Amino acid sequence: MRNTLYTILAMAALAAPLSAHGASELKGKFYILKQCKPCHGEGGSGGVVTPLIKTQAQWRAYFKAGKHDKGKEKLGAHTKLSPAQLKDVEAFMVAHASDSPQPMTCGG
Ligand code: HEC
Repeated sequence: MRNTLYTILAMAALAAPLSAHGASELKGKFYILKQCKPCHGEGGSGGVVTPLIKTQAQWRAYFKAGKHDKGKEKLGAHTKLSPAQLKDVEAFMVAHASDSPQPMTCGG
């Protein structure tokens, strides 16, 4: 019984948004819907982008490189997102990447 409780607690702790530097994946999702989806929804100029298109490692590398549109420009160009807000976007992408514990799209 006691072990089950510890297991549940451990799982709950792992399920909580684990993100570096206090970034918020919830905010990240909001920013994606507002700032990225206009170009990255169905039929958008950039093609469909959701967390599922990359693995966690690929998203981390993508945000680390900080390039967008096949490397032509800075990530976040055409958006009003600050570097801190882009961290939130990264947190959401990584948390729900294709190989994450909770793969999902951004909905909307
Ligand atoms: C003004 C339109 C526009 C906005 C806004 C936009 N993108 Fe893009 N994005 C593009 C285009 C165009 C491409 C290149 C698509 C292609 O030809 O493969 C692209 C490509 C991408 C790619 C594929 C890899 C790459 O860089 O080529 C990712 C991932 C991506 N965008 C993420 C984002 C995220 C995250 C945001 C919001 C922070 C965002 N984009 C905002 C237009 C946009």
